[in-house]
Amino acid sequence: MKNLGYYNGNFAEIDEMTIPMNDRACYFGDGVYEATMSRNYNIFAIDEHIDRLYNSAGLLRIEISQTKEEMKAILNEMVSKMDTGDNFIYWQITRGTSMRNHVFPEKDVKANLWITISPKKIPDIYKKINLITEEDTRFLHCNIKTINLLPSVMASQKAKECGCDEAVLHRGERVTEGSHSNVHIIKDGMLITAPTDHLILPGITRAHIIKTCKKLNIAVDETPFTLEELMNADEVLVSSSSTLCRGAQQIDGKNVGGKAPEILKAIQDEILRKYTEETN
Ligand code: PDD
Repeated sequence: MKNLGYYNGNFAEIDEMTIPMNDRACYFGDGVYEATMSRNYNIFAIDEHIDRLYNSAGLLRIEISQTKEEMKAILNEMVSKMDTGDNFIYWQITRGTSMRNHVFPEKDVKANLWITISPKKIPDIYKKINLITEEDTRFLHCNIKTINLLPSVMASQKAKECGCDEAVLHRGERVTEGSHSNVHIIKDGMLITAPTDHLILPGITRAHIIKTCKKLNIAVDETPFTLEELMNADEVLVSSSSTLCRGAQQIDGKNVGGKAPEILKAIQDEILRKYTEETN
C-alpha cells in the first residue's frame, strides 16, 4: 500500500478511511498519541514509544484495550503492508465513541486505536536549521502526549511563515521545548537540557541524546536554561523522532551556535549510528 490508515481493526489507504463522528477525539481531543519512524520495515524504538503511550494514557485514565505486545504486533503487521519500508508511523488512542459529554463514557465503551503510516525518511540531520522563539501558551500537562496540540500548531505555522524550521517555546525567560521537538544546548563542553517535569514532553530522542553524551563522556545537566543562554550557547540542538538531532544556526534571525561543531557532530554521528544499526 502507498499509505495506510487503521481504525479498530479496519484498514485501507488513508483517503478511503472514515471515523465515527462521536469519537471523543473530534469533540475534546480526548486521546494520546505516539510517532516514530520505520526504516527497512523496522519500527525504531518501538518499545520505548509504546511504554510512553501507556504512560500518557494512564495519566488521563484511558484504558488501552490491547496489551503492549498486541499493539506492537498490530503496528508491525501494518508496516509490513506498505510498499516502502521507510515510513512515518503515527498512532493514537482515543477515549472511545459516545455522545458528546465532558465526563467519561460508561465503562463498556472501549478506547479506539488509530494508526496512519506514510512514506518518509529522516532528513539530512547535518543540515543546520533556523528557529524562532515563541511564548509557550500550552497547558501544564506537557509531559502527557495528548492530541490537543493547538498552541503547537500555531507556533509551527508561525515558524513556517518566518521561513524557519521550528519554534522554540519559552515561559518567560525559561526555554521549555520546541513546538514538536525538544531543545538542548551545549555550553563549555556540557549538554544542558530541561528536566522532564510537567512543562516538557520526555522525548525519546532526548533520552537517546543523554545516553549518547554519557557514552561520549560529555557531562549532562538536566536543569532549565534561559533564552539568553540559548542565544549564547556554543551549540543549539533540536531533537525529535522524525528528525533525530539537528543543530540550529539562526534564532529569530540572529546567528547562534557553531562554537562546538566537534561535540555536535560526535552526538549526531552516534544518534545516527544507533538509528541505522537498530533499523537494519
Ligand atoms: N513530536 N516535544 C514535543 C512537544 C513533541 O511533540 C515531540 C515529538 C518531542 C520529541 O519527542 P520524541 O523524541 O519522543 O519524538 C518533544 C512528534 C515527532 C510529532 O508530534 O510528530
